[in-house]
Amino acid sequence: MTSQAEFFDSYADKWDSLERDDICELLDRVVRESGIEPGMDILDVGTGTGVIIPCLLQSTNNNCNIRAIDISKEMLRVAASKVSSDKVSFELADIEDFDCADASFDAVICNAVYPHFSDKAHVLKRAWSLLRPEGIIVISHPTGRDAVNQVHSETDSVVSEDRAPCIDEMKRMLSAAGFSDISATDEPEFYLAHARKRQ
Ligand SMILES: C[S@@+](CC[C@H](N)C(=O)[O-])C[C@H]1O[C@@H](n2cnc3c(N)ncnc32)[C@H](O)[C@@H]1O
Repeated sequence: MTSQAEFFDSYADKWDSLERDDICELLDRVVRESGIEPGMDILDVGTGTGVIIPCLLQSTNNNCNIRAIDISKEMLRVAASKVSSDKVSFELADIEDFDCADASFDAVICNAVYPHFSDKAHVLKRAWSLLRPEGIIVISHPTGRDAVNQVHSETDSVVSEDRAPCIDEMKRMLSAAGFSDISATDEPEFYLAHARKRQ
Protein backbone atom coordinates (compact mmCIF):
# COMPACT_ATOMS: atom_id res chain seq x y z
CA MET A 1 0.00 0.00 0.00
CA THR A 2 1.23 3.51 -0.83
CA SER A 3 2.43 5.39 2.23
CA GLN A 4 1.39 8.96 2.88
CA ALA A 5 4.94 10.12 2.10
CA GLU A 6 4.85 8.30 -1.25
CA PHE A 7 1.41 9.75 -1.98
CA PHE A 8 2.66 13.29 -1.45
CA ASP A 9 5.92 12.55 -3.27
CA SER A 10 3.84 11.76 -6.35
CA TYR A 11 2.07 15.15 -6.14
CA ALA A 12 5.15 17.31 -5.56
CA ASP A 13 5.80 18.47 -9.12
CA LYS A 14 2.18 19.35 -9.86
CA TRP A 15 1.15 20.59 -6.39
CA ASP A 16 1.48 24.32 -7.05
CA SER A 17 -0.51 24.08 -10.29
CA LEU A 18 -3.42 22.58 -8.30
CA GLU A 19 -3.64 25.56 -5.93
CA ARG A 20 -6.43 28.10 -6.29
CA ASP A 21 -5.51 31.32 -8.10
CA ASP A 22 -6.17 33.32 -4.94
CA ILE A 23 -4.15 31.06 -2.62
CA CYS A 24 -1.60 33.80 -1.82
CA GLU A 25 -4.30 36.17 -0.55
CA LEU A 26 -5.83 33.37 1.52
CA LEU A 27 -2.47 32.45 3.02
CA ASP A 28 -1.75 36.11 3.73
CA ARG A 29 -5.01 36.18 5.67
CA VAL A 30 -3.94 33.09 7.67
CA VAL A 31 -0.66 34.76 8.60
CA ARG A 32 -2.24 38.16 9.35
CA GLU A 33 -5.06 36.82 11.54
CA SER A 34 -3.03 34.28 13.49
CA GLY A 35 -0.68 36.77 15.13
CA ILE A 36 2.62 36.02 13.40
CA GLU A 37 5.10 38.76 14.32
CA PRO A 38 8.63 39.80 13.35
CA GLY A 39 11.36 38.03 15.29
CA MET A 40 9.54 34.75 15.66
CA ASP A 41 11.07 31.29 15.33
CA ILE A 42 8.47 29.42 13.29
CA LEU A 43 7.91 25.70 12.69
CA ASP A 44 6.08 25.08 9.40
CA VAL A 45 4.69 21.56 9.79
CA GLY A 46 3.99 19.73 6.53
CA THR A 47 5.39 22.59 4.50
CA GLY A 48 4.72 20.77 1.23
CA THR A 49 6.04 22.96 -1.57
CA GLY A 50 6.51 25.77 0.95
CA VAL A 51 3.50 27.81 -0.18
CA ILE A 52 3.15 29.73 3.07
CA ILE A 53 6.85 30.60 3.39
CA PRO A 54 6.80 33.77 1.19
CA CYS A 55 3.83 35.09 3.21
CA LEU A 56 5.69 34.49 6.49
CA LEU A 57 8.84 36.21 5.21
CA GLN A 58 6.90 39.14 3.80
CA SER A 59 4.72 39.68 6.86
CA THR A 60 7.77 39.75 9.13
CA ASN A 61 9.95 41.84 6.78
CA ASN A 62 12.29 38.82 6.54
CA ASN A 63 12.70 39.01 10.28
CA CYS A 64 11.89 35.44 11.31
CA ASN A 65 13.44 31.99 11.23
CA ILE A 66 11.44 29.23 9.59
CA ARG A 67 12.13 25.55 10.10
CA ALA A 68 10.04 23.73 7.51
CA ILE A 69 9.46 19.99 7.95
CA ASP A 70 7.72 17.38 5.87
CA ILE A 71 7.57 13.60 5.52
CA SER A 72 7.78 13.88 1.71
CA LYS A 73 11.28 14.34 0.34
CA GLU A 74 9.88 15.31 -3.07
CA MET A 75 7.72 18.07 -1.58
CA LEU A 76 10.82 19.32 0.24
CA ARG A 77 12.85 19.22 -2.98
CA VAL A 78 10.31 21.45 -4.73
CA ALA A 79 10.02 23.77 -1.72
CA ALA A 80 13.80 24.16 -1.43
CA SER A 81 14.07 24.94 -5.16
CA LYS A 82 11.74 27.94 -4.68
CA VAL A 83 13.34 29.49 -1.60
CA SER A 84 16.73 31.13 -1.34
CA SER A 85 16.64 32.68 2.10
CA ASP A 86 19.04 31.96 4.93
CA LYS A 87 16.03 32.44 7.22
CA VAL A 88 14.55 29.14 6.06
CA SER A 89 15.69 25.55 6.58
CA PHE A 90 14.10 22.34 5.34
CA GLU A 91 14.10 18.97 7.01
CA LEU A 92 12.67 15.53 6.36
CA ALA A 93 10.77 14.90 9.59
CA ASP A 94 7.45 13.67 10.92
CA ILE A 95 5.85 15.93 13.52
CA GLU A 96 4.50 12.81 15.24
CA ASP A 97 8.04 11.81 16.30
CA PHE A 98 9.90 15.08 15.74
CA ASP A 99 13.27 15.09 17.49
CA CYS A 100 13.64 18.67 18.69
CA ALA A 101 14.23 20.43 22.00
CA ASP A 102 11.19 21.70 23.85
CA ALA A 103 10.50 25.45 23.81
CA SER A 104 12.24 25.97 20.45
CA PHE A 105 9.54 27.98 18.65
CA ASP A 106 7.29 31.02 18.95
CA ALA A 107 4.81 29.66 16.40
CA VAL A 108 3.86 26.23 15.10
CA ILE A 109 1.93 26.39 11.83
CA CYS A 110 -0.09 23.48 10.47
CA ASN A 111 -1.45 24.75 7.17
CA ALA A 112 -3.52 22.21 5.24
CA VAL A 113 -1.95 19.28 7.07
CA TYR A 114 -3.91 18.63 10.27
CA PRO A 115 -6.27 15.97 8.78
CA HIS A 116 -3.25 13.84 7.88
CA PHE A 117 -1.99 13.32 11.43
CA SER A 118 -2.76 9.84 12.71
CA ASP A 119 -2.72 10.97 16.36
CA LYS A 120 -4.01 14.54 16.39
CA ALA A 121 -4.13 14.88 20.19
CA HIS A 122 -0.49 13.80 20.39
CA VAL A 123 0.55 16.36 17.74
CA LEU A 124 -1.17 19.17 19.64
CA LYS A 125 0.55 18.17 22.86
CA ARG A 126 3.90 17.97 21.04
CA ALA A 127 3.27 21.42 19.56
CA TRP A 128 2.55 22.74 23.06
CA SER A 129 5.92 21.38 24.25
CA LEU A 130 7.76 22.79 21.23
CA LEU A 131 6.39 26.27 21.87
CA ARG A 132 7.87 28.83 24.20
CA PRO A 133 5.57 30.54 26.70
CA GLU A 134 3.18 32.88 24.79
CA GLY A 135 3.85 30.92 21.60
CA ILE A 136 1.04 30.31 19.14
CA ILE A 137 -0.31 27.32 17.28
CA VAL A 138 -2.07 27.75 13.95
CA ILE A 139 -4.33 25.17 12.31
CA SER A 140 -5.57 26.41 8.96
CA HIS A 141 -7.34 25.38 5.80
CA PRO A 142 -7.33 28.47 3.57
CA THR A 143 -9.91 27.03 1.16
CA GLY A 144 -12.22 25.88 3.94
CA ARG A 145 -13.07 22.65 5.72
CA ASP A 146 -15.66 21.33 3.28
CA ALA A 147 -13.33 21.73 0.29
CA VAL A 148 -10.53 19.86 2.05
CA ASN A 149 -12.73 17.03 3.25
CA GLN A 150 -14.34 16.67 -0.16
CA VAL A 151 -11.00 16.52 -2.00
CA HIS A 152 -9.77 13.82 0.38
CA SER A 153 -12.94 11.74 0.15
CA GLU A 154 -12.76 11.78 -3.65
CA THR A 155 -9.15 10.59 -3.94
CA ASP A 156 -9.56 6.83 -3.28
CA SER A 157 -6.08 6.92 -1.72
CA VAL A 158 -4.21 6.81 1.55
CA VAL A 159 -5.68 10.22 2.49
CA SER A 160 -9.30 9.44 1.59
CA GLU A 161 -10.35 9.04 5.23
CA ASP A 162 -8.48 12.15 6.47
CA ARG A 163 -10.80 14.84 7.75
CA ALA A 164 -10.53 18.36 9.13
CA PRO A 165 -12.57 18.43 12.36
CA CYS A 166 -15.48 20.80 12.80
CA ILE A 167 -14.39 24.00 14.48
CA ASP A 168 -15.97 23.14 17.86
CA GLU A 169 -14.06 19.86 17.95
CA MET A 170 -10.89 21.73 16.97
CA LYS A 171 -11.40 24.15 19.85
CA ARG A 172 -12.02 21.27 22.25
CA MET A 173 -8.82 19.51 21.14
CA LEU A 174 -6.75 22.69 21.50
CA SER A 175 -8.11 23.22 24.98
CA ALA A 176 -7.44 19.59 25.94
CA ALA A 177 -3.82 20.01 24.82
CA GLY A 178 -3.42 22.95 27.21
CA PHE A 179 -3.87 25.91 24.86
CA SER A 180 -5.59 29.17 25.86
CA ASP A 181 -6.91 32.23 24.01
CA ILE A 182 -8.45 29.95 21.40
CA SER A 183 -9.80 31.76 18.36
CA ALA A 184 -11.62 30.00 15.56
CA THR A 185 -13.01 31.03 12.19
CA ASP A 186 -15.05 28.59 10.11
CA GLU A 187 -16.32 30.25 6.95
CA PRO A 188 -17.44 28.31 3.86
CA GLU A 189 -14.07 28.99 2.21
CA PHE A 190 -11.75 29.75 5.12
CA TYR A 191 -10.88 27.81 8.26
CA LEU A 192 -8.49 29.07 10.90
CA ALA A 193 -7.95 28.09 14.50
CA HIS A 194 -5.19 29.63 16.54
CA ALA A 195 -4.36 29.56 20.21
CA ARG A 196 -1.66 30.52 22.66
CA LYS A 197 0.50 28.69 25.16
CA ARG A 198 0.04 30.42 28.49
CA GLN A 199 1.85 29.26 31.58
C1 LIG B 1 -1.97 18.79 1.80
S1 LIG B 1 -0.23 19.02 1.84
C2 LIG B 1 -0.13 20.74 2.29
C3 LIG B 1 1.23 21.30 2.11
C4 LIG B 1 1.38 22.78 2.48
N1 LIG B 1 1.30 23.00 3.92
C5 LIG B 1 0.38 23.61 1.74
O1 LIG B 1 -0.38 24.35 2.38
O2 LIG B 1 0.31 23.54 0.50
C6 LIG B 1 0.20 18.20 3.35
C7 LIG B 1 1.70 18.05 3.53
O3 LIG B 1 1.95 17.60 4.86
C8 LIG B 1 2.91 16.56 4.83
N2 LIG B 1 2.68 15.73 6.03
C9 LIG B 1 1.67 14.86 6.25
N3 LIG B 1 1.78 14.31 7.46
C10 LIG B 1 2.88 14.85 8.03
C11 LIG B 1 3.52 14.69 9.29
N4 LIG B 1 3.06 13.82 10.20
N5 LIG B 1 4.63 15.42 9.56
C12 LIG B 1 5.13 16.28 8.65
N6 LIG B 1 4.57 16.47 7.42
C13 LIG B 1 3.46 15.78 7.12
C14 LIG B 1 2.68 15.87 3.51
O4 LIG B 1 3.81 15.16 3.07
C15 LIG B 1 2.33 17.03 2.60
O5 LIG B 1 3.47 17.60 1.99
